[in-house]
Amino acid sequence: MKTVLITGCSSGYGLETARHFHAQGWNVVATMRTPREDVLPRSDRLRVVALDVTKPESIAAALEASGPIDVLVNNAGIGLLGAFEVTPMATVREVFETNTFGVMAMTQAVLPQFRARKSGVIVNVTSSATLAPMPLVAVYTASKMAIEGFTASLAFELEAFNVRVKLVEPGYCPNTSFTSNGGARMEGLIPEAYAPFAGRIFASFGQLTAVTSASDVAEGVWRAANDATGTLRFPAGPDAVALVS
Ligand SMILES: NC(=O)c1ccc[n+]([C@@H]2O[C@H](COP(=O)([O-])OP(=O)(O)OC[C@H]3O[C@@H](n4cnc5c(N)ncnc54)[C@H](OP(=O)(O)O)[C@@H]3O)[C@@H](O)[C@H]2O)c1
Repeated sequence: MKTVLITGCSSGYGLETARHFHAQGWNVVATMRTPREDVLPRSDRLRVVALDVTKPESIAAALEASGPIDVLVNNAGIGLLGAFEVTPMATVREVFETNTFGVMAMTQAVLPQFRARKSGVIVNVTSSATLAPMPLVAVYTASKMAIEGFTASLAFELEAFNVRVKLVEPGYCPNTSFTSNGGARMEGLIPEAYAPFAGRIFASFGQLTAVTSASDVAEGVWRAANDATGTLRFPAGPDAVALVS
């Protein structure tokens, strides 16, 4: 029976992905910054493990607790919506620490076991913002674009060791905790001069007819983890798929 370790399972796409792999009969290591047992089914195939992807000691302890894994899903991420002009560099670094360096650190930590076993899959969850950039998310998009380039290169580098590296590019989902989790970070990032323009952008979010659901992303991660065709990119959700059709 295969084992998947997923980062950021307290809500949203990560939580649904943990449920999906469990329902398919896999062992699941559902990792969270603050572990919560109550959001996932009770099962001897499912463990909740503490993990903050920005902390090396937390990564080491989580992998020690997990034992061997077959698939790593780098799902944990934070959002940022605001005018770049007024975004503090500390906030830029905060976004990269989780979305970019956190993914790299997790990847580096699992590679020795994957390379030694000549088997393993890494699925990196980025965003459809990398497919069609939009305004007011320049820092967020940059953090995810970095992972797109990282993953595309690494896929070639690890081919000889039979380690596969994949991208899942979800569309916009208004129903996860993504926006509320980023609320404090975004305060004051729409100055007066940007307000009319930003207002039109925010209004357009409410008019979207096709949006992504957490189950679209769980299904995309499942397909990426089990892909044997060499496909790198898995857009997930109707709005993301429309961008590449
Ligand atoms: N929702 C969207 O519209 C959308 C669109 C495209 C891509 N995405 C991407 O999809 C992924 C999941 O987002 P979501 O929509 O499901 O948002 P979400 O509900 O906010 O979930 C994000 C998860 O990441 C965790 N996380 C944040 N920082 C972390 C850290 N340092 N270490 C470990 N875990 C951390 C959060 O944990 P806490 O509960 O501890 O904060 C939470 O479990 C993210 O990579 C996001 O960039 C989202």
